[in-house]
Amino acid sequence: MSVKESAEGVPTEAAHRAATLREELAKHNYSYYILDAPTIPDAEYDRLLRELEALESKYPSLVSPDSPTQRVGAAPVSGFLEVQHAEPMLSLANAFSDDELHAFARRLRDRLSAAGVDPQEALAFMAEPKLDGAAISIRYEQGRLTQAATRGDGTTGEDVTHNVRTIKSVPLRLRGTDVPAVLEVRGEVFMPRAGFARYNREAAERGEKVFVNPRNAAAGSLRQLDPRLTARRPLEVFFYGIGQVDGWDVPLRQSDMLKRLERWGLRLCPDAEVVDGVEGCLDYYQRLGARRDELAYDIDGVVYKVDRRDHQRMLGSISRSPRWAIAHKFAAQEELTIVRDVEFQVGRTGALTPVARLEPVFVGGVTVSNATLHNIDELRRKDVRIGDTVIVRRAGDVIPEVAQVVLDRRPAETQIVELPEHCPVCGSDVVRPEGEAVARCAGGLYCAAQRKEALRHFASRKAMDIVGLGTKLIDQLVEADLVHTPADLFRLTVEQLQSLERMGQKSAENLLAALEKSRETTLQRFLFALGIREVGEATAAALATHFGTLEALQGADEGALQAVPDVGPVVAAHVCAFFAEQHNLQVIDELLACGVHWPEVSKPASTEDSPLYGKTVVLTGTLSTLSREDATAALTALGAKVTSTVSTKTDFLIAGEKAGSKLAKAEALGVPVLDEQQFLELAK
Ligand code: IVH
Repeated sequence: MSVKESAEGVPTEAAHRAATLREELAKHNYSYYILDAPTIPDAEYDRLLRELEALESKYPSLVSPDSPTQRVGAAPVSGFLEVQHAEPMLSLANAFSDDELHAFARRLRDRLSAAGVDPQEALAFMAEPKLDGAAISIRYEQGRLTQAATRGDGTTGEDVTHNVRTIKSVPLRLRGTDVPAVLEVRGEVFMPRAGFARYNREAAERGEKVFVNPRNAAAGSLRQLDPRLTARRPLEVFFYGIGQVDGWDVPLRQSDMLKRLERWGLRLCPDAEVVDGVEGCLDYYQRLGARRDELAYDIDGVVYKVDRRDHQRMLGSISRSPRWAIAHKFAAQEELTIVRDVEFQVGRTGALTPVARLEPVFVGGVTVSNATLHNIDELRRKDVRIGDTVIVRRAGDVIPEVAQVVLDRRPAETQIVELPEHCPVCGSDVVRPEGEAVARCAGGLYCAAQRKEALRHFASRKAMDIVGLGTKLIDQLVEADLVHTPADLFRLTVEQLQSLERMGQKSAENLLAALEKSRETTLQRFLFALGIREVGEATAAALATHFGTLEALQGADEGALQAVPDVGPVVAAHVCAFFAEQHNLQVIDELLACGVHWPEVSKPASTEDSPLYGKTVVLTGTLSTLSREDATAALTALGAKVTSTVSTKTDFLIAGEKAGSKLAKAEALGVPVLDEQQFLELAK
């Protein structure tokens, strides 16, 4: 049989197959990265990719620079070549207040009306997140990616083509046939928060350098000499503008221009919008600011751009920034300050956490004077010393942390921090088991700090929910020696309470009423309240459902415990150790004697019979009858696994009110969606 061959000795059939595979892979890539709706499972994508790789390695002449196999990273380069930007890459002026934004709008209006634009005409703006990454300019010639460059000084950047090719959301080839002869697109390369956290965790495990923030991670990854390393970094891109263009009649409006880019397969930020006037801008700023902590990526503000490109031209730019755009910044999440001292705080389980006492600094919208250093290893790794200047970071509700020391500013005299040998609160020995990052006070409930934390946990909302028993009051009760164990709380009298400072009769009575009410609880809450190590809400729920009674749980050995979904050897050992401790059994007896009780646990004949057993479930939106935590606990107790992102691996999406993008994604992927009623039926 004779095989037809092409010029380079490649069978026509192989050449065809390679072309088909390339086309198909590009299509799936587009669905995955641009439409955010994968069309095939990852494994199938990998199979197609491997088939193409095999063909290309057999017939090297089939390899083309835009083949999806070429993303994995070419050989390292020895340095970066300079790239002259055909159109300069501008930067943005900043507005730090609403007033500054109004001033910006006034300047626009004045200039535009001087140029003949009707001042009454409403100005539309493109409003977009200001992404905290690294700016990039990517050049496509006849639709093929030919060059990618960093911003540099705006005129001259660095050639990072080898690295940018490894970013999966950057198309190597534009979609469609009507592509311009030359198209330079501009956007931001960034590392999404989840990827950043994962990357840093893994890097720390390997003992490698971690990145201080997602911006440094993006910029550092782009400037890697070895693209194989860049390929492993979870980088993404959003495009927001253009540079040099040849062979395209660019639409009049920025927003229409972007839509066209999207159709060529270039990814846009899904949170960008067209808004009207300054009011629209401020409203967008508020709305995005409120969602800042939920976004998948870091932003440091909002960018407004005059939508009409003819108006943009009339306005022009001054020095390096356009007059037609401005960045409206959020409160900074990182600031510099000085470490005055480092103290060790003792937590509920005795864990010693080093805390930096700082020169107060305004960051993330509040004044911060303490920041966590997590544990002694972290303190050593960051080499934080008393007297150092450090970068403090506070993102959203997260506890402020010391991100990094600024070594350039280290004074001659600094003091190295040592792990104390004795607990700073009770003087007991500090122990640190081999290989563990956490050092602990060995004092147990003898230690006032551990006692306070244990009581705080016991009283907390998701545990016994003792309304009005807050941190201050617990401190007072422990310091006045009125309460040693949780059971003591239920024996408090009005007189004892009134002996405390700032405690009147009314408040004392209210607290006793709250204690009375909390006696009626659930087994799950009670187990959680006990503060057994590694037993969080979900595990407490799973234990309660599985064993049904406290006696059954107490009688279980490690093997029996590990039969509970999600309970492994570590949790099982902690549970056994807890119930082996005489002191704990006594506290439990006393609590029961004080009238703490719960209704019998109703459980399915066996969790294995539940239709949710072993299923992967995602919750979204607001449920009307139960909180997110309770729903998660109920699902876990039934043997389901609750995750946060919808993928082809998701078995069910449970959608409450105001479900958004997750619902859309589930529908696109064909993941079954349950409403609250259907979920409650299944969970019965
Ligand atoms: S437009 C026309 N849009 O901010 C002006 N820049 O301070 C060119 N950035 O170098 C920039 N998000 O790295 C623009 N939605 C956005 C942006 C954005 C982040 C960065 C970009 C640029 C810097 C300017």
